[in-house]
Amino acid sequence: MASLNLNWIRDRFPALSQTVNGLPVTFFDGPGGTQVPQSVIDAIADYLTTSNANTHGAFATSARTDELLVAAREAIADFLGCDGDEVVFGANMTTLTFALSRAIGRELQPGDEIVVTRLDHDANVTPWSVLEEQGVVIRVVDINVEDCTLDMADLERQINNRTRLVAVGYASNAVGSINDVAKVIQLARAVGAMVFVDAVHYAPHLPIDVRTLDCDFLACSAYKFFGPHVGVLYGKRQHLTRLRPYKVRPASDESPSRWESGTQNHEGLAGVVAAIDYLADLGRSVLPDAYSRRAALVAAMQAIQDYERSLFEQLLPQLLQISGLTVYGITDPDRFAWRTPTAAIRFAGQSPERLAHMLGDRGIFTWNGHFYALNLTERLGVESSGGLLRIGLAHYNTLEEVHRLLNALDEITSPSAAVL
Ligand SMILES: Cc1ncc(COP(=O)(O)O)c(C=O)c1O
Repeated sequence: MASLNLNWIRDRFPALSQTVNGLPVTFFDGPGGTQVPQSVIDAIADYLTTSNANTHGAFATSARTDELLVAAREAIADFLGCDGDEVVFGANMTTLTFALSRAIGRELQPGDEIVVTRLDHDANVTPWSVLEEQGVVIRVVDINVEDCTLDMADLERQINNRTRLVAVGYASNAVGSINDVAKVIQLARAVGAMVFVDAVHYAPHLPIDVRTLDCDFLACSAYKFFGPHVGVLYGKRQHLTRLRPYKVRPASDESPSRWESGTQNHEGLAGVVAAIDYLADLGRSVLPDAYSRRAALVAAMQAIQDYERSLFEQLLPQLLQISGLTVYGITDPDRFAWRTPTAAIRFAGQSPERLAHMLGDRGIFTWNGHFYALNLTERLGVESSGGLLRIGLAHYNTLEEVHRLLNALDEITSPSAAVL
């Protein structure tokens, strides 16, 4: 196992010590939202206690709120590898993506094309496909059904010189597949198209560097990486200043605040800073001489990636041993670099909902359904029968919890339990 100190980590997350039916709670629900460290909870309470105000006022709490907004942009800039003025906050990723699609839509002509995929969460599909109303053509890239990866040959076919934007996920929130986003960007660049990357599922698992990636936009949600419910959008400065977001007249036309309609979730932003600082602390615990918060964050995410992979290497082969159980997605350990530690499964004769309930009763929290990755569950032919059961590992999970899950699945799926 990699060098994460699990006691140090778990001590920071008060939710992890809960019990259900007298059993310890195991949170394998992270892809739907992770738990938060105490420092995030404290930062939110502290903001509301000491700094609660609107922005740009001539008094102390408002000045502190202005400072907080700058600090929150800098924190995310360190997390993503960009500058603070390239960071936009919003209610969630979906809201931000709709706002961006409306602004980009203002530049598009009938016949212009946007490429989306069957692997994506609908928040990276419908905000683009609504532009069909103004004559934009939407092209949908297929998947390789056998391992739930993006069909890159199809992607290449769908991109042409009318393509204006490619909307792609960094990793699938349903089956965990990581896309070769660098290659997608290369293909898009060849025809002068922009690339929007949905990194919501990727962000809690691996380091992100938007400069190296050279994407035009990248969105994530702080509640998926140990923070509160705040959406985050990175946009290249040239786009954020050129595009025209829909905004009310009195609001600032300075970028990036021109993208942030209305009052922001200030207490949430205080939590975002604390979440990033938690990750940076984690990074310094594995790389004590990290020379900057960015360096500490990269070290944290690399250590998280290694640790989660080692946990997943324990989980997946054992899942495959359970008779009647199907795993959707990459199952070859040699290709685990191309997946997150998120397993989507079905068990013959049991609906995912029933499985999730039986696990939930045992204190093991998983999600069932389509997780809004509707194109995918439809393509896999599982949508009409309850979708998938999703087991999402996070860095605060332990090997003991993996064994608890495997034991519970054994018990639930044993022939004697089939009538339950
Ligand atoms: C991959 C992915 N994209 C987008 C979203 C939507 O994020 P939000 O809830 O912040 O709108 C989610 C949420 O589950 C997701 O997992």
